[in-house]
Amino acid sequence: MFSSDSIILKNKKIGFIGAGNMTQHILEPLLKDNILKSDQIFVSNRSASKLQKLKDKLNIISCNSNEELLEKSDIIILSVKPQDLYEALEPVLAYFEPRHEVISLAAGASLKSLSKLLPKVSLLSRVMLSTAVKIKQSAIAYDFMKNGQFAQSEDDGAFNVKSLFSPLGKLFFLKGDQAFRAFTVGSGSGVALVYELMIYWQGWLKDYGITEKMAEQITQQSFLAASKMAINEEQSIEDLQQAVTSTKGITIEALDAMRASNLEGQLHHAFEQARLKDVKLANLKTIDNTK
Ligand SMILES: NC(=O)c1ccc[n+]([C@@H]2O[C@H](COP(=O)([O-])OP(=O)(O)OC[C@H]3O[C@@H](n4cnc5c(N)ncnc54)[C@H](OP(=O)(O)O)[C@@H]3O)[C@@H](O)[C@H]2O)c1
Repeated sequence: MFSSDSIILKNKKIGFIGAGNMTQHILEPLLKDNILKSDQIFVSNRSASKLQKLKDKLNIISCNSNEELLEKSDIIILSVKPQDLYEALEPVLAYFEPRHEVISLAAGASLKSLSKLLPKVSLLSRVMLSTAVKIKQSAIAYDFMKNGQFAQSEDDGAFNVKSLFSPLGKLFFLKGDQAFRAFTVGSGSGVALVYELMIYWQGWLKDYGITEKMAEQITQQSFLAASKMAINEEQSIEDLQQAVTSTKGITIEALDAMRASNLEGQLHHAFEQARLKDVKLANLKTIDNTK
């Protein structure tokens, strides 16, 4: 049974340049849920062995070169590391045509620089996601350009981006490199930052004689409950927090101690360090400063 997303994508040939982790994380759920079929997926990769593994696993069509992939596909997904992007694109620039829709997953590669490199492409999108696409729970940011102009609103197009990625999480139409950078830290790295907190949580429980397994499960359940309630209840996180915090109770003791230790300042510093690293990486030899 096809969903509406699969109907939109049904006649499209979708090519992934790069057969790495992200390509696999995206394709597995989309194929499993019949949003895509393996005979519409074309993949190329630098090393043949990784491509063969993906083909064996997902039955996609492998391409011997990026040229072949461009000839065979309508939608091109750039799924190589940002530092490999220019090297991957430069030899095949002449093969891009107006019929191609290009979607870049490369962190840090701006739409402006991509559009300079691929002037013939009329629909160009940038998508930022996290490994949570595997469980269809990623926050996914996107922006796009049509005929060299930045989209002003999410209604301006990028329907294939919405059809491909909305089954993998929640989509956010974000404008500008600054916002994408903040998203990369808050969401892309965000999952790992929450894991850090979870590690402290379960460690503290274990210190009081709770078994490792139980400490792990109690921690998981607490984070799950906080997320689910924040999503389901029609209250702000601040209001939800207040509702479970009585003025003379236990919880307020912990909250006061957290605030007095400037946890907010420490987290802000940590997020900023990650953001600055993203700026630094973008200044290395990437697509943004090779043009
Ligand atoms: N993984 C994540 O959690 C994550 C999160 C957010 C965004 N992203 C973005 O997703 C993109 C892919 O990341 P990834 O984690 O999947 O990286 P990855 O596992 O390293 O996969 C990248 C693949 O690209 C291939 N490749 C490199 N140069 C190529 C070329 N010239 N032609 C064809 N294939 C080429 C590599 O081939 P070989 O290694 O076999 O030589 C590798 O298989 C990146 O731009 C990244 O910024 C990833």
